[in-house]
Amino acid sequence: MALLNILCYPDPRLHTVARPVQTVDARVKTLISDMRETMYVADGIGLAATQVDVHERLIVIDVSGERNAPLVLINPELTWASEEKQLNDEGCLSVPGIYDGVERSASIKVQAIDGEGQLRTIEAQGLLAVCIQHEMDHLLGKVFVEYLSPLKRNRIKTKMLKARRDTERA
Ligand code: NI
Repeated sequence: MALLNILCYPDPRLHTVARPVQTVDARVKTLISDMRETMYVADGIGLAATQVDVHERLIVIDVSGERNAPLVLINPELTWASEEKQLNDEGCLSVPGIYDGVERSASIKVQAIDGEGQLRTIEAQGLLAVCIQHEMDHLLGKVFVEYLSPLKRNRIKTKMLKARRDTERA
């Protein structure tokens, strides 16, 4: 297993649109376990392949408190989304230290292939629904700060660039 490097906003590679995974082969299975490990070590609840600079439609998620219920979504497609919305503070491993409110559908249905190559339907509400929608955005090249006002987004961008400069200097 290997820890993967997580791209940080405003890295332009985060805006790449991912292509579908062709087959769940050994390479993809290694990527899944590396992404899962990377997510756990970074203490995140979700990670999209886009964030580790692999532009394929693959997500790992674990919203359980015990960190023992990983979910793998390959080529996820939203098949239904409730009109009812929920507003939640979101964060992102690619935008460390930033949390802000984003409105999303309260309930969703998603079809995706799991880590064993089986097609599954997932019905989600609450935190899981938020997380799946957030991660699916990553696959389309979208980071949650893009839902915020231009003013807030620019402030975040400046802060992230400054943090990067400070790290490079250290
Ligand atoms: Ni994210």
